[in-house]
Amino acid sequence: DWTMAAFRAEATARIREQVGDSRVICALSGGVDSAVAAVLIHEAIGDQLTCVFVDHGLLRLGEAERVVQLFRDAYNIPLVHVEAQELFLEELKGVTDPETKRKIIGKLFIDVFDAEARKLKERDGRAVDFLAQGTLYPDVIESVSFTGGPSVTIKSHHNVGGLPERMNMKLVEPLRELFKDEVRNLGRELGLPEVFVGRHPFPGPGLAIRCPGEITAEKLEILRHADAVYLEEIRRAGLYDDIWQAFAVLLPVRSVGVMGDGRTYEHVLALRAVTSVDGMTADFYAFDMNFLGRVATRIINEVKGINRVTYDITSKPPGTIEWE
Ligand code: XMP
Repeated sequence: DWTMAAFRAEATARIREQVGDSRVICALSGGVDSAVAAVLIHEAIGDQLTCVFVDHGLLRLGEAERVVQLFRDAYNIPLVHVEAQELFLEELKGVTDPETKRKIIGKLFIDVFDAEARKLKERDGRAVDFLAQGTLYPDVIESVSFTGGPSVTIKSHHNVGGLPERMNMKLVEPLRELFKDEVRNLGRELGLPEVFVGRHPFPGPGLAIRCPGEITAEKLEILRHADAVYLEEIRRAGLYDDIWQAFAVLLPVRSVGVMGDGRTYEHVLALRAVTSVDGMTADFYAFDMNFLGRVATRIINEVKGINRVTYDITSKPPGTIEWE
């Protein structure tokens, strides 16, 4: 793709010009955007870049391992893997308000980065001047205002918006002008594996915003397991690439059911799948009912703690893609 080849050359030149011989730290979220940003920046400035992967314990099954493997082993990019699962869970204890969750997670992320940047500096005396982020064009727009109304914040995306002064770091955001499909093409251009580039978007706050109500380790475990079953079935049916995003949401509601001779009183799970071009609008995906039935049966049989499965048929607008 000549357009992306040109963008690649231009963007790497721009990054070099912006950062000079300064050191850059990049936030890897596990998603496509930050991964493409990191690989692009690494191409531009090599080992002046250090990636920091904050494992907030809100990722999907097996995701953390895959990220570390790809960056450290396949790309040879210096990577710090911060195990912060307990810290995040502790700070989120008792929190149910969606925006509060987002703010806590966003702030903790910055705190953890700040600490890592300091450690890097302590190691060899070279300061970290820049923070790289995989911010996309829709992120930029949507966190500022919402079409059809005054500037109301719908959701505060934790990967956007200036950094606190105290960090004293400038931002490198090489994907700010791109839409999702362009980022994917850029990823392909940079040689990222197709299974990674083709992955559905994943939000920075991760499973925290797919677990309405209070977040606990137990709920996350249930959600992770159910989500994995759902996605496995989607891949098996060959539907993954037709869908923009598919995920499970663990509802803070219990329902009564019956299993064998016994009464059950367990969690309700919502399945979500949408098609979209850029995430700004979306349509719910019209699965075959037999497919949904199969997924529901598997989840209820295999995932302890869930006894009812629903499918979310809301498009965006009026719904948003994520539940929080
Ligand atoms: P909504 O739920 O606003 O989501 O319709 C639109 C797209 O943005 C993703 N999303 C996020 N991505 N940080 C991110 O990096 C966030 O805080 C965040 N919140 C939502 C969402 O998954 C969808 O693709």
